[in-house]
Amino acid sequence: MIEQWLRESNYTVVFTGAGMSTESGLPDFRSSLQGMWKDKDPMKIASTHALRHNRGAFVEFYRMRIKGLAACEPHEGHAILAAWEQSGLIRHIITQNVDGFHQRAGSGHVTELYGSLRTVHCEQCQTRYPADTFLEPDGVQCAACGGTVRPSVVLFGEHLPYAALETADQQISRAELCIVLGSSLQVSPANSYPLMAKRNGARVVIVNMEPTEMDDIADMVVNGQKIGEFLQQCHRQV
Ligand code: APR
Repeated sequence: MIEQWLRESNYTVVFTGAGMSTESGLPDFRSSLQGMWKDKDPMKIASTHALRHNRGAFVEFYRMRIKGLAACEPHEGHAILAAWEQSGLIRHIITQNVDGFHQRAGSGHVTELYGSLRTVHCEQCQTRYPADTFLEPDGVQCAACGGTVRPSVVLFGEHLPYAALETADQQISRAELCIVLGSSLQVSPANSYPLMAKRNGARVVIVNMEPTEMDDIADMVVNGQKIGEFLQQCHRQV
């Protein structure tokens, strides 16, 4: 059925979350088994308050994530989405992920709602550095101005980048089919995109190991199946 919807749709937008990258070895945030927020409070380590008032824990957390990212790479599911973009089967990916795996796998039309862990930048002079400089002892201080260096991701307490929201809105307004892959859909405003697609008359498919908060608006829900397997199954049929 989904393969038919993919073929029928002239404009398919894929919306991905952390569940898209767990098969690459990166943990997600809220799944019952391995979610990062199960034993960590994001407000204490991943917020603007932590950046300024809990600097040690903030730096430790993001050094752990940057190291983890360097040890992992995109999986077959990312490659399939890139192939689907090439063939015109999908037009755009809106992602909540900051791992850059869609782009590394070859996807070109990607909107990163929460920025990217591939770079860090100075809070004061905005100078950007590759993420691995953050791992060096003096990498948390700006070499150019001595300011505070931080990952180029949206922290809790920050607004999403306007340009990303603008592009995501435009893409969702054109969608005839929206496929959600690996998100609990608990974080707003990102979780509003599947709903916006639905309201615009698109079909919505939610593929997620566990039920999500928005399953009731979906035309189809796929639970209990790994995304990599789901995408490979579809890829054989389209
Ligand atoms: N296949 C299918 N589903 C999976 C897989 C998999 N291999 N691995 C995990 N999942 C599902 C989990 O069941 C979970 O419901 O992916 C979902 C991921 O949900 P979250 O961990 O909440 O991640 P996400 O929705 O992307 O979170 C949004 O919250 O804390 C912020 O910045 C963080 O970008 C993140 C945002």
